[in-house]
Amino acid sequence: MTSRKLLRTLIDYEEEAQNILNEPVRSFYYSGAEYGKAHRRNIKALQKIYLCPNICVDVSERDTSANFLGYSIPIPLGISPTAQHKHANFEGELATARAAAYHNTPYVMSLFSNISVRQVIHAVPGVKILIQLQFMKDRDILSKLLNQFINDGVKGICLTLDIPIINPTKPGLLSLASKYSIPNIPTELREKTKTSLTLFDNDHITWEDVAWFISKSTVPVIVKGVLSPKNALEAINIGAAGIWISNHGGRQLADAPPTIEALRVIAPLAKKAKIPLYIDGGIRSGGDILKCLALGADIVFLGRPIISGLVVGGYKGVVDTLNIIKRDFEANMAMCGFKNVKEINEKCLWENISKI
Ligand SMILES: Cc1cc2nc3c(=O)[nH]c(=O)nc-3n(C[C@H](O)[C@H](O)[C@H](O)COP(=O)(O)O)c2cc1C
Repeated sequence: MTSRKLLRTLIDYEEEAQNILNEPVRSFYYSGAEYGKAHRRNIKALQKIYLCPNICVDVSERDTSANFLGYSIPIPLGISPTAQHKHANFEGELATARAAAYHNTPYVMSLFSNISVRQVIHAVPGVKILIQLQFMKDRDILSKLLNQFINDGVKGICLTLDIPIINPTKPGLLSLASKYSIPNIPTELREKTKTSLTLFDNDHITWEDVAWFISKSTVPVIVKGVLSPKNALEAINIGAAGIWISNHGGRQLADAPPTIEALRVIAPLAKKAKIPLYIDGGIRSGGDILKCLALGADIVFLGRPIISGLVVGGYKGVVDTLNIIKRDFEANMAMCGFKNVKEINEKCLWENISKI
């Protein structure tokens, strides 16, 4: 670990990481569309929700475990796909994967990783890897790529659908793409074009295309980037294995709602359809996880905090980051009187105090 400061929270880690990094990497990781409007909104919206303690409940036997795609995981938490980890640490996604394996935390690798899924799965036995994918112009190549990832041993696919085009105000991947390779992109595709971004043609994608993709996959397909009840229903209707509420960490639609607000309107539909509900965007503490679960999420995901851990301390930094939020979640659960994750409900939200 390079840091001499005592880092107690994920915010401490982010401050430290931002001090360590230089431009343009700092902006690439931490900014967003229109200088991060929606990203800041995610964080503020979570902060505006208060938790209410429930005292004198015997919480001496606590179980923070949760279920993700049939696997038992230590807390309801996973790692969101974020591109290009070698700019944060020389070991790149290998460090992230080792830390994920240490905590038995699911890790959704970005298609734009600097280390291939195959290499990571080979080097880190037992790690639960999913791969994030998006549509490509050539369907045959997309099918081949899907099969390749399945053969490599991914536990599921996270299909990112909120990029019909890339927000031009977002600090781009292109400026960073040249330094490290992006080995998940097949060579035949790389040869056709000089930059990775022109490979992708997402502006004509419809739910029919997504249904086609789901029909081709033998592992669960989770759709990422849902913010409205209409889109949630469409995802349910085409047989998605899970709905991932996300505004891409504020990197796409700058005026998008905070994800916690989208959760409020989507959760009743997901519950009725019995479809797992995932969320990311601005989650920075155990209290934030509790709020998301109280409002109906099953699992929450972290994007930038994992990068911060990587920047500050590589593998150890990510292990510590996950440790901090794990302990914080357990403490928050206990203070609100919950012994296990299944017990968590909306009664711990201050806004419901008069209804109880
Ligand atoms: C630097 C960076 C790169 C990202 N790369 C991807 C990506 O390749 N694919 C994807 O689906 N989402 C990507 N995202 C979005 C994240 O998966 C996630 O939705 C977001 O970071 C969650 O918000 P948080 O960073 O506030 O936790 C990226 C986000 C960041 C910050």
